[in-house]
Amino acid sequence: MVLFGGAGDLTKRKLVPALFNLVKANLLPKDFAVLGFSVDELGLEQFRNQVTGFLPPSDRQTVAWEWFTERLHYARGDFADPDAFNALSNRLGELDVSYHTQGNYLFYLATASKFFAPIVQQLGRLGLSRQENGGWRRVVIEKPFGHDLESAQALNREIKGILDENQIYRIDHYLGKETVQNIMVFRFDNAIFEPLWNRRYIDHIQITNAETVGVERRGGYFDNAGTLRDMVPNHMMQLLSLTAMEPPVSFRADAVRNEQAKVLHAVQTLDSEEVLHSSVRGQYGEGVVETETVPGYRMEPGVSPESRTETFVALKLNIDNWRWAGVPFYLRTGKRLAKRHTEITIHFKQTPFELFRNAPFHKLHTNTLVIQIQPVEGISLSFGAKIPGAVLRVGSVDMSFEYSKYFGAEAYTGYEVLLYDCMIGDATLFQRADMVEAGWRVVNPVLDVWKALPPRRFPNYTAGSWGPRAADELMEHDHRQWRTIGA
Ligand code: BG6
Repeated sequence: MVLFGGAGDLTKRKLVPALFNLVKANLLPKDFAVLGFSVDELGLEQFRNQVTGFLPPSDRQTVAWEWFTERLHYARGDFADPDAFNALSNRLGELDVSYHTQGNYLFYLATASKFFAPIVQQLGRLGLSRQENGGWRRVVIEKPFGHDLESAQALNREIKGILDENQIYRIDHYLGKETVQNIMVFRFDNAIFEPLWNRRYIDHIQITNAETVGVERRGGYFDNAGTLRDMVPNHMMQLLSLTAMEPPVSFRADAVRNEQAKVLHAVQTLDSEEVLHSSVRGQYGEGVVETETVPGYRMEPGVSPESRTETFVALKLNIDNWRWAGVPFYLRTGKRLAKRHTEITIHFKQTPFELFRNAPFHKLHTNTLVIQIQPVEGISLSFGAKIPGAVLRVGSVDMSFEYSKYFGAEAYTGYEVLLYDCMIGDATLFQRADMVEAGWRVVNPVLDVWKALPPRRFPNYTAGSWGPRAADELMEHDHRQWRTIGA
């Protein structure tokens, strides 16, 4: 496995810990080695110490740790330098012989996106992308995959000139989350929900991704991207497509991805007028998040003091198909919000006749099914129940399932399943070219209108709140409201 960007943050925080978890679970082949490749001048010991720095101290000096660290190697090189790739190719040849990896190479591009195409070019030039004599060559590509529809299409064209689609693994780490994978099991392995999963019974769907963090050390990247690009075409569209897709005919990669792509293509693209009514952008100002006073976005390192980049997005989308016609999907995602919380909520319709409407204290309620993605992972269903007592009162109660209570808490990074699947050649949890492009097709009109009409009142929400007032108005306009996410 070659880790381009081997000295970077993703390698240390996620990839190496995930690989190590695979070692502990006995899911890595014994003929295995990692070659970190990046521009940093590092000695072998330094590299090994650096990348294992995020492993829990209790795992150090164990047999598994020794086995793993012996297999970590490093080569220094500039991604723009063809000579560095010549040397890399020779080095790979040597490691292939020492570790009997039989020419099976997994290239992981954990680099800035501007290097994706040039690295693939170099792999092509050196024949490292050619699959022959039974060996496989696969390339994992991190996000951001393009910065709009056109650039994503161009990147697809470039890499597909060198690699077959089945060699390309476009990663979206949301698909590594247990609860995200569970959406499919929940929907298609239970007989009771799917019959209700349509316009006849569902009023609308909300998808919320709230973060309490700001831009951390990524101001430079983020200020050019913004929340719309950073979160919507990828993570939010994955959540939407898994919630809205038709049942696939099998669990094979293309059967699943065909259905995801189909529903993404059915998302109505907004015209300019609709962008004005169906989208909201926001940027946080100074505030208090979970008792800590934090600076406004414009004060963050790497961010321009006059920045007009959005850190919050809310969208109302419609899907043009028989299942979802007339059922709006409301999406919101933002940084420095009140609470870290990601969920999908299915809001069912009112009963056709409100039998208890005249009961004293009757509170109007509807059934909601909440799929909680993080930090709590679980599913809960709320329904009306009689409150005990002589006077008829109806309230809302919950039936809920929490992953950790049933299965215990696992210290997984979410990358384990993705790396493992990639090694066994299962692309179900990776994005195909058409899916990535379909995601960009949805956000492109919003990008265009926002660019033409720069925001006038940024910052427009306080850090630690639930986003700009306009996001609530988006719902109020439709006589709905965002689900209250408790403390
Ligand atoms: C990344 C974005 O892809 O996802 C970040 O670039 C964001 O800006 C992160 O914070 C959210 O991931 P998670 O797993 O913490 O929800």
